[in-house]
Amino acid sequence: MKLVKTIEEVRQIVKEWRKQGLTVGLVPTMGYLHEGHQSLIRKSVEQNDRTVVSIFVNPIQFGPNEDLASYPRDIKRDMALVDETCGDLIFNPEPNEMYPSHFTTSVQTTEVTELLCGARRPVHFGGVCTVVSKLFHIVAPDRAYFGQKDAQQLAVIRRMVRDLNFDIEIVACPIVREADGLAKSSRNTYLNPQERIAARVLSQSLKLGLEQIEKGERDCKKIIQTITEHLQTEPLAKVDYVEIVDNENIQRVDRIQKEVLVAIAVYIGKTRLIDNFIYKCED
Ligand code: PAF
Repeated sequence: MKLVKTIEEVRQIVKEWRKQGLTVGLVPTMGYLHEGHQSLIRKSVEQNDRTVVSIFVNPIQFGPNEDLASYPRDIKRDMALVDETCGDLIFNPEPNEMYPSHFTTSVQTTEVTELLCGARRPVHFGGVCTVVSKLFHIVAPDRAYFGQKDAQQLAVIRRMVRDLNFDIEIVACPIVREADGLAKSSRNTYLNPQERIAARVLSQSLKLGLEQIEKGERDCKKIIQTITEHLQTEPLAKVDYVEIVDNENIQRVDRIQKEVLVAIAVYIGKTRLIDNFIYKCED
C-alpha cells in the first residue's frame, strides 16, 4: 500500500494499472477512518482489481461556523486501516494541491440539495460536488463507493453523475452501526461519555418510525411526529430536522410510497449527527 500527495503521481499509477487492463475503484473519504469506511474499501476490493482511497478534509464543503479546524485527523492510523483492508493506494493531497490560487470553478446541483442538510448547510453540497468531480477526473475510476449514512450526499452524487455523464458506477453501501445502534461517524469522537449514551436516541427513534410504517401507517406527518416525540424525550438532544422525502429527488412526500428516505439530523450537545433509513413501499 502506497500513499501519494500529488495529482500527477495518482494519474501515473492509475495509468500503469490501466495499461495492464486492471479495473479501479475509488473510495472518497475525509479520513479518520472507521468500520463504515472499511466496509466501502472492502466492497471496492471485492469488485475491482485496484482500490484508491482518497483522504482529504475538503475545506470548501464546510460553512464558516462548522468544524473544519477541529475535524479529526490521523493519517498514520488511516494508513494502517487501509492497509489492513487491502486498499492499494491512498491519495492524500494538501489543500493547495486540490485548490491552487485563483481556483474559481464549482459544481452545483439543485433540487436534490434544497432540503435536509442542503437547507441547513448552504455551501456544503457545492463543495462536495466540486471535490468529488475533481477526484473522479483525477482517478477516473470504474466505480466509486459512498455510504448510505450520507443519504442526501448519495442522491446528490448520483444526480451529478447522471447530469454530467460521468462514466462511473456509484455503489452505495449500507450504514454500519455500533452495537447499540449509533451509526458510525468520524464525528462520534466529539461526544463525551454522557452524550455518547444520549446519541442512541437517533437510531431508537428511527426504529419506532420504521415499526409504524411496517404496521401499515402511510401518513408521513404521523411518522414524523412519532420520531420527533421520541427524540424529544432525550434532554441532551435538539432536533434539527425529521423529514420524509422521495429517495431519488429528495423532495417531500405526504404519504409513504415508492422509495422514501426517512432522515433525521439531531444535535447532541454541540455535535450534529445524522441518521436515516430507506423504505421501499410495495403497496
Ligand atoms: O462523505 C465524505 O466523507 C465527504 O463528503 C466526501 C464524499 C469524501 C467529499 O469530501
